[in-house]
Amino acid sequence: MCVGDAVGGYRVAGLLGRGGFGQVVAARDGAGREVAIKLLHPDLAEDPLVLGRFEREIVLLSELSHPNLPRIHDVGRLADGRPYFVMERLRGETLAEALVRGPIAVATLLDVLGPVCAALDAAHAAGVIHRDLKPSNIFLADRVVLLDFGIAKLLDGTGPQLTRSRHVIGSPVSIAPEQIRGEPVDARTDVYGLAVTAYYALSGRPPFLGDWPLVERQHLEREPPSLVEVAGVPAPVAAVIRRALAKRPEDRPPTPGALWGALALAAGESTARVVRCRLDVVLSVAPESLGDDALDEVDAMLPAALDELTRVGFVVESESQLGAVLVAEDRAEARAAVAELARRLNSATGSGPSRPPFATLSIHLDPQPGSP
Ligand SMILES: Nc1ncnc2c1ncn2[C@@H]1O[C@H](COP(=O)(O)OP(=O)(O)OP(=O)(O)O)[C@@H](O)[C@H]1O
Ligand SMILES: [Mg+2]
Repeated sequence: MCVGDAVGGYRVAGLLGRGGFGQVVAARDGAGREVAIKLLHPDLAEDPLVLGRFEREIVLLSELSHPNLPRIHDVGRLADGRPYFVMERLRGETLAEALVRGPIAVATLLDVLGPVCAALDAAHAAGVIHRDLKPSNIFLADRVVLLDFGIAKLLDGTGPQLTRSRHVIGSPVSIAPEQIRGEPVDARTDVYGLAVTAYYALSGRPPFLGDWPLVERQHLEREPPSLVEVAGVPAPVAAVIRRALAKRPEDRPPTPGALWGALALAAGESTARVVRCRLDVVLSVAPESLGDDALDEVDAMLPAALDELTRVGFVVESESQLGAVLVAEDRAEARAAVAELARRLNSATGSGPSRPPFATLSIHLDPQPGSP
């Protein structure tokens, strides 16, 4: 691709960077507006089904118009089959470039990851997993922008070529154990990628070092060196990142928002920035008088409510059979979600978590920890 070449209706103005999946060029549209075009490696276009799915995902994400995702202007294919997409031209640097100057502080990491986690939660709600979280895919512009959604997925369809493509890619530092095993990925795969990114950002090195087969084995089998020892990270923060690097997805925080919340709590954020929500199942009859079906109904009340609140970034701080305490960053959306849940639970015809006649779910916002 050379200066002056045409890509669709755009004229290439220069190279912005090159990665394992292709290259990014600066370009201008017919009206002279600056854009950036990501041109993917032709090898990634070999399975038309996979490519079609990827293009639909790009469109889906652009329709989310999330402030922490790049604005997408166009999607297309070159005559030689190379897929490309046209996005806004960002000014600034990637987190990878920033890290060349040295590791960052926990507070800075929280500022960077907050928007990234918000974008990921929104994308996950739309059914799209990123799969390739790493410092070079986080762009620090006038806002934080998460790049390259779903591109790693293009490798899924290539079967035996996977290994060959991996060589093209170089070192996929943040690949999760389930990705290595070829198992299904979900939000927790991105939680692992975020944890690798956090580890890297705080210490200046990835959790596992060495050539690819060795790194792969370590992702599957080894605990990373302690961040406390490697970089003097506060132990509670290091513990959260270690948990997010768990080999089994079920042992990790369930969503990026939950990971962010746990990191913020561990970092000792002042309680003013954290909102607590206490949920209690209150029975109007003696538990002994309830049959199995009724007990099942009671048992289902709490998980349904927890599910709703963790989706908007609440983290479960403690949980028992008939109650839970959740915390979140004190954002308007978090408070609104609690208010909305309470409203639906209290309305007789509400469509919220089902409420048997002999039980209510009481919801208190902001109680002191441990208060009745
Ligand atoms: N929208 C954009 N505006 C300006 N520069 C961009 C934009 N998107 C990407 N870049 C630049 O292009 C560089 C190359 O990006 P690319 O995604 O190809 O590489 P990578 O992230 O290092 O590797 P990978 O292919 O594995 O994602 C980035 O590091 C960034 O500096
Ligand atoms: Mg990239």
